[in-house]
Amino acid sequence: MVLAVNAAGVRVARVCGCQQVARSGHRVSAARIPKRYEHCTLDSYETGFRGANASMQQAHLTARRFVEAYPVETDGKGLLITGNIGVGKTHLAVGLLLALIEEKSAQALFYDYRELLKQIQHSYNAQVNSTELDVLKPVFEAEVLVLDELGAQKPTDWVWDTVALILNTRYNDKRTTIITTNYPDLPAGGVGLSATQRATREETLGDRIGERMRSRLAEMCVRVEMSGADFRQSAGRARFG
Ligand SMILES: Nc1ncnc2c1ncn2[C@@H]1O[C@H](COP(=O)(O)OP(=O)(O)O)[C@@H](O)[C@H]1O
Ligand SMILES: [Mg+2]
Repeated sequence: MVLAVNAAGVRVARVCGCQQVARSGHRVSAARIPKRYEHCTLDSYETGFRGANASMQQAHLTARRFVEAYPVETDGKGLLITGNIGVGKTHLAVGLLLALIEEKSAQALFYDYRELLKQIQHSYNAQVNSTELDVLKPVFEAEVLVLDELGAQKPTDWVWDTVALILNTRYNDKRTTIITTNYPDLPAGGVGLSATQRATREETLGDRIGERMRSRLAEMCVRVEMSGADFRQSAGRARFG
């Protein structure tokens, strides 16, 4: 703590800057962002490289606005970021998470969808020992949750029921969920397509998570659609040195 003088000219004790940095650092490690994405801030998200397009700029702008509007105006709503592999969805989601931690002191958590399914499976196997269920508590209760690659895997019914319970509970409690998915936010079953189109079409989010959850997400999350080339193929090819 340090002594300071507040706006009214009164001497007060406040948390020192070094402690604020330490607390923010603690919240960053508690968010469990994978090493591969630690560098992903909103500032390091480029929009000027060859191959960048308006949807990427728009998504970046939406992310910035979201951080400013959080938490009063966002009111528990999250974002659903869709787009092809490599357009920068995870980068943006992690950037949001870091900005919310640093600028809004949010308590945040990153989860890969497949990892979450594994955890749910694990909690079920361990149901005899009820304390094991605690592993899911942070997912229910995190102030901000990033769920990366929703739909990447199709779980069994009861695992899916738990996913739905987590998402619904979070929404009812006005906790923010930021979701990324590689699948386009379109209906299940190729509605409105011809038989040939249906045979060759790509899977949609509706196919992967069902129409019921898709319409729930429409209520819970503002949609951010990204398109374009894989960043790693254009600007960010792997190289040494
Ligand atoms: N606009 C961008 N500016 C800087 N780096 C980017 C950008 N888009 C993607 N990347 C980088 O490219 C890699 C792939 O992006 P990622 O966010 O994982 O894509 P996605 O989640 O859409 O598959 C990451 O290392 C990410 O940091
Ligand atoms: Mg990703």
